[in-house]
Amino acid sequence: MSFGEDTAARYDAVPRGDERVAVDFLAQLAGDGPALELAIGTGRIALPLAARGISVHGIDLSPAMVARLKQKPGGDQIPVTIGDFSEVPVPGTFRLIYVVFNTLFNLLTQDEQVRCFQNVAAHLADDGAFVVEAFVPTYLTRLRDDQYVDAEAIGVDEVKLDVGRHDPVAQLLYESHVSLTAQGIRLNPIVTRYAWPSELDLMARIAGLHLEGRWGGWLREPFTAASRLHVSVYGR
Ligand SMILES: C[S@@+](CC[C@H](N)C(=O)[O-])C[C@H]1O[C@@H](n2cnc3c(N)ncnc32)[C@H](O)[C@@H]1O
Repeated sequence: MSFGEDTAARYDAVPRGDERVAVDFLAQLAGDGPALELAIGTGRIALPLAARGISVHGIDLSPAMVARLKQKPGGDQIPVTIGDFSEVPVPGTFRLIYVVFNTLFNLLTQDEQVRCFQNVAAHLADDGAFVVEAFVPTYLTRLRDDQYVDAEAIGVDEVKLDVGRHDPVAQLLYESHVSLTAQGIRLNPIVTRYAWPSELDLMARIAGLHLEGRWGGWLREPFTAASRLHVSVYGR
């Protein structure tokens, strides 16, 4: 529900900025491919990865996001299945399967996240790698009353707020990026079911995979107590 026409139209306006380093990291693991992106979106990562000569497939629930991908140069060369990535509803096996930008946490229950690991394992080549990039939820433990309001930008014409509520029992974070302008208010809601890296490692073990490496970023920075995100590589 969070990735309709409106979000899709604005998604690529401000790139996240990690595209080149993420693609360097993923291309090394992909070898000769093929690669599969879970939640491919508008192709922010898939398109530059495919431009390196790697065959990339994708899965996404949002026809609006995928339509943007298809409109871009090279987008018509990337096969995309519209569906729920936790089911991995594609045939065949892949040298690299990856899910970036915290999107594993868009699966809102532990069961769905475990099922995702299991279905990934069923589609991973014997020497394949499953890469997960996600935030580390450390900051949530520092919230007052399990909620926050952050002033993201204060301009003459627009104020941007990030507001959130945390449910520590269900491990759910309800968040909205709110834009206030003279023309009106725009909401950008998203719910995530976060997990600590250790919980993801257990999910991997349930699926018959194990952690091969974890870094604090795409440049293989060490993963430490100060890391805000992790890049984790699972294999058989
Ligand atoms: C933050 S965007 C990330 C897109 C792309 N991976 C990137 O890095 O730019 C999240 C994407 O996940 C998709 N998505 C969320 N939950 C999904 C699900 N259960 N199955 C398939 N796609 C899903 C959304 O439609 C959206 O395109």
